[in-house]
Amino acid sequence: MSVDGYIDDASPERLRLSNPADFDRVDAVRASCDAILVGAGTLRQDDPQLLIRSESRKAQRVARGRAPDLTKVTVTGSGDLAPEARFFTTGASPKLVFSSSPAAPALAGRLGERAEVIDGGDPVSLPALLAELSRRGVRRLMVEGGGDLHTRFLTQGLADELQLAVAPFFVGDPSAPRFVHPGVFPQSPGRPMRLAEATRIGDVALLRYLIGGRRG
Ligand SMILES: NC(=O)c1ccc[n+]([C@@H]2O[C@H](COP(=O)([O-])OP(=O)(O)OC[C@H]3O[C@@H](n4cnc5c(N)ncnc54)[C@H](OP(=O)(O)O)[C@@H]3O)[C@@H](O)[C@H]2O)c1
Repeated sequence: MSVDGYIDDASPERLRLSNPADFDRVDAVRASCDAILVGAGTLRQDDPQLLIRSESRKAQRVARGRAPDLTKVTVTGSGDLAPEARFFTTGASPKLVFSSSPAAPALAGRLGERAEVIDGGDPVSLPALLAELSRRGVRRLMVEGGGDLHTRFLTQGLADELQLAVAPFFVGDPSAPRFVHPGVFPQSPGRPMRLAEATRIGDVALLRYLIGGRRG
């Protein structure tokens, strides 16, 4: 995020908030996970691939008996997802879409073989989503935005760790997306997170917090 808490600007192009070294760190974190989750808003706005970039990290995963790529996961209430999105068309690992009950049947029809659509309730229950991923062998899940999904995970107490990379500039536009939306966060002044790490990556500051039951 920017110093003033934005994770994009209001233009259609994606704003780059990290430097190459931090993007490489993110790639390493991805490679340590079993699955990656982004909200439908991020799929529509950024069209991300959500792949591991480093061939050597992929090879190391394979050597340890894991798939080269992460299982990709998204969540939608509206079902407004394009089958041509790179989320669906890149990478060989499974693609899972947790959809609200009303949107699920039509979405499954539109996506066909490109993804498995799972009826997640209405709205989709994130604890149930996590339980289903766990049932499928996912032990470590990376949630990579956007602000709506960050807010739901944090306010519902579903995250163990928060990695916040702070870019050395301001965005200053209230119409731009923020890291989180307003909400009731258990990580309050009376129940703060523990700062487990503060690392300088060029002019980017990486802050790694441990949350709730996983403190220490
Ligand atoms: N800087 C970064 O690291 C970073 C990373 C990721 C994203 N971003 C930015 O974040 C922005 C997008 O953020 P956003 O807040 O608009 O969207 P988002 O958090 O990516 O996705 C929100 C959408 O996810 C679906 N959703 C989430 N929880 C749900 C639930 N429990 N049940 C049903 N549906 C659920 C809904 O989809 P439907 O609308 O389909 O119902 C909701 O509108 C973009 O500008 C992107 O560039 C930045």
